[in-house]
Amino acid sequence: MKTVKFLLAGALALAAASASFSLLAQTIKIGFITSYSGLNGNLGPYMERAVRLYIKEHQKELPPGVKIELITRDDTGPNPDKAKQLAQELIVRDKVNLLAGVIFTPNALAIAPLATEAKVPFVIMNAGTAVITTRSPYIARTSFTLWQSSYPLGQWASKKFKTAYTLVSDFGPGHDAETAFAQAFKEGGGNVLASVRVPLQNPDWAAYMQRVKDAKPDALMVFIPAGKTATAVMKNFSELGLDKAGIKLIGPGDITTEEELPNMGDVALGATTVFHWSAAGDRPANKAFIAAWKKEYGANETPNFLSVGSWDGTALIFEMIKQQKGKLDPDKSMEIAKGWKNPNSPRGPISIDPETRDIIQPEYLREVRKVGGQLMNVELETLGAAVKDPWKEQQKKK
Ligand code: PHB
Repeated sequence: MKTVKFLLAGALALAAASASFSLLAQTIKIGFITSYSGLNGNLGPYMERAVRLYIKEHQKELPPGVKIELITRDDTGPNPDKAKQLAQELIVRDKVNLLAGVIFTPNALAIAPLATEAKVPFVIMNAGTAVITTRSPYIARTSFTLWQSSYPLGQWASKKFKTAYTLVSDFGPGHDAETAFAQAFKEGGGNVLASVRVPLQNPDWAAYMQRVKDAKPDALMVFIPAGKTATAVMKNFSELGLDKAGIKLIGPGDITTEEELPNMGDVALGATTVFHWSAAGDRPANKAFIAAWKKEYGANETPNFLSVGSWDGTALIFEMIKQQKGKLDPDKSMEIAKGWKNPNSPRGPISIDPETRDIIQPEYLREVRKVGGQLMNVELETLGAAVKDPWKEQQKKK
């Protein structure tokens, strides 16, 4: 009898000890889905590196004993079935507290119902089609919408050009860029000569560029997913002589992403874009961000806008963890996301709109110029200091 009591007491003591231990050592699991292969598979590391760098720099701010475990998964490009399967495994098997990342809209849309069903907050760090955040109350977005850049681009362009031609990838963000630009350009008195949608993968750029050249617009507005595709567009634009024909290349900042500028070369000079961030931005927080990146990853490495969406997204996750002292409740986490503010993002002051859970941020007019021998997106003007997603603002009025 004595031995039984003794054993029982020992077991209870052990259980109590492990309970208090688990209170001390709390692990927050983040299921991080991005693209490491497939279309623009080189972009995933731009996001993951930002998350890891933020964690490294800010870990000391976490409540005592709280650790973050980042579980990374490759969705292999725009592949909603794969993204859904990965999210399901992360939720059910790995029991993640949060989902994060995601470059492509179709993937984010496939994950949204799972976030709702499992009540797992999903911090979107890239995918930019306006409608995404309406698909789950557990989504908050720290990246951008295409409407946020393409609508002010259209307004600006209508003051400079009489005619424009639009060329976009045929999927969600392309449709948004086309609609937003055309609406603002027409409202400002411009005339859209044609709106062409091209396949997401491997379109015959030379054929499309020849058609644009024949139409003789004052400006060509392009949206394609950031990365290698942008370099293909730029090269064909110049090889077919559209620049020499006096056609101005404009678009959201996806077409002049920082890491591709050296691959594009001087053909990119003069391309004018609207976006929420540039590596050339003169803000102290941006300079510190870029310096930290180079220190960690090498002097020749540069972050891009996917890095910034991921950096700020990690800052939001830290806020959720800090405010709840390491014990995450999904509904409380979403309440913290709504109205979260960061006056010191590398892009400038940002916040999450409590009504839509979408980011509110500055939009800059930029032009590709050479600075110290390097191609940069030089910020010329702030077109809006706190731009909300214009599509959602319009829906409210309907
Ligand atoms: C998207 O799929 O939402 C997307 C992909 C690449 C971009 C922007 C948006 O550059």
